[in-house]
Amino acid sequence: MFAITNSIGMFGMNAFPVTIEAEVTRGAPQFEISGLPDVGIRESRERVRSAFTSIGMQFPKGKVLINLAPADVRKAGSSFDVAIFISLMQATDVLPLRMPHSVFIGELGLHGKIRGVRGVMSMTMLARNNGFDEIYVPMENLKEASVVDKIQVYGVSDVDMLMSHLVDQEVLHPAPLYVPDRKDPLADRMDFKDVRGQFKAKSGIELAAAGGHNVLLIGSPGSGKSMLANRIPTILPEMTHEEVLETSNVYSVAGQLPPDRPLIVRRPFRSPHHTTSGAGLVGGGTIPTPGEISLAHNGVMFLDEMPEFKRSTLEMLRQPLENRKVVISRASGTAEYPCNIMLVGAMNPCPCGYYGSPYHKCTCTEKQIKQYISRISGPLLERFDMHIDVDPIPYEEFASKEPAEDSAQIRERVNFARKQQEKRYAGLNIYCNSMIPDHLLDEFCPMTPQAEKLFSQMYQHYKMSARTGTRIKKVARSSADLNGNEEIDRKDIAVAVQFRGFDSRYLK
Ligand SMILES: Nc1ncnc2c1ncn2[C@@H]1O[C@H](COP(=O)(O)OP(=O)(O)OP(=O)(O)O)[C@@H](O)[C@H]1O
Ligand SMILES: [Mg+2]
Ligand SMILES: [Zn+2]
Repeated sequence: MFAITNSIGMFGMNAFPVTIEAEVTRGAPQFEISGLPDVGIRESRERVRSAFTSIGMQFPKGKVLINLAPADVRKAGSSFDVAIFISLMQATDVLPLRMPHSVFIGELGLHGKIRGVRGVMSMTMLARNNGFDEIYVPMENLKEASVVDKIQVYGVSDVDMLMSHLVDQEVLHPAPLYVPDRKDPLADRMDFKDVRGQFKAKSGIELAAAGGHNVLLIGSPGSGKSMLANRIPTILPEMTHEEVLETSNVYSVAGQLPPDRPLIVRRPFRSPHHTTSGAGLVGGGTIPTPGEISLAHNGVMFLDEMPEFKRSTLEMLRQPLENRKVVISRASGTAEYPCNIMLVGAMNPCPCGYYGSPYHKCTCTEKQIKQYISRISGPLLERFDMHIDVDPIPYEEFASKEPAEDSAQIRERVNFARKQQEKRYAGLNIYCNSMIPDHLLDEFCPMTPQAEKLFSQMYQHYKMSARTGTRIKKVARSSADLNGNEEIDRKDIAVAVQFRGFDSRYLK
């Protein structure tokens, strides 16, 4: 008897179809799985056997051969268990030999339980796109699968439930299409209205959000850096549907989707601790999984206390930040994870924390300060278009009863600025000003004569490098977009220069 069952495998972010062929013939008892299986699949033999026992059935006698096709694709993970089990049910005549419209996904556990696997959202999309009518997924993954339309999705918690349905004993109903509620009541618990004063820092953050610029927040302990950074996602534009799916897919593949909320509808905010390993930050492992930078895809990654991170770890961020994707190569293939993020860093200005503070005296030597700053490599520092000084707020601001502007109001201005960028960069694969490539800088950053003049004065006065000049133009572009101007004006240049304080203070 020769049976064929459909399943789906994952490598990195990519789902691919897998056909399970099962053959049971007479002969000495044997159970082989072929088609480049890894250790996990070999272990699945034991799990499949025990699933038979769990429903009181005998494992087929004789020679049992399973082949996973295509053979030349490296398959990993345990998501083929259920399909292998089903193929044996077909090969022993319990189920029809051909079930061409159905796909089976899931790992078998003890006592016939079906356990959740990673990447089910991508798998379900592939199943639909390849024309399948129905997909059976572990109950744990039902929500993320039911995000996909135009395919019937069934959640199953054990093989008994699955078999009862397939032999028409107790028929299951397909899950209703999941439509996310954008008004998640927990989502907006943080708001810029909680931050008193800090007018300059907030306007800097607004500018950064408007152009998608990476920012470095510098300030003494307790001045409010973390508080400001945490709230940045609340002023970024709402995610588009495409972004929601992309980000949710990363979480699905990482096995980090919350089971009750299968779609990530709010821009992520990830704040990895400084002890996080390089692999934890950018992704890795024998079967590559996404790192923090990809879990922040379409959102914010916040590196608090940046100088505390290992220099070598931070270095690993350079390429992904540049390319907006992480590429992990393994003998078994190359996995790619997206990481289109806004990077926000925070640091004290010096080891004691008070260099430049109007209230405390800094007790560090010049050498200590230099050493502290040099913990972050120059090339990484250069990924920040803007440096924002976060000074402690004076008492009047702290005690003020004046309500501060809320995130929704700020977001409206950010949206306005982004709309113009969308129009300007349509079809160019540039989403925001921070992404303008050098060769298009002049075309997209026209200046008024007054702006030109101020820019040249500043450039010479601060002995800027060409790189700094480039940053200033991009940030000035965002300032003009907030003001609704196509041409960059004098005050846009002035604003952008203001947020390069770090260069003049440390790098002279
Ligand atoms: N502008 C502000 N308005 C209201 N509360 C503030 C403000 N700034 C700071 N705070 C209060 O001070 C606390 C400490 O702020 P926060 O943790 O953001 O400082 P920090 O700059 O990150 O400090 P550290 O360098 O120690 O990490 C906040 O939790 C908040 O309660
Ligand atoms: Mg902090
Ligand atoms: Zn100091």
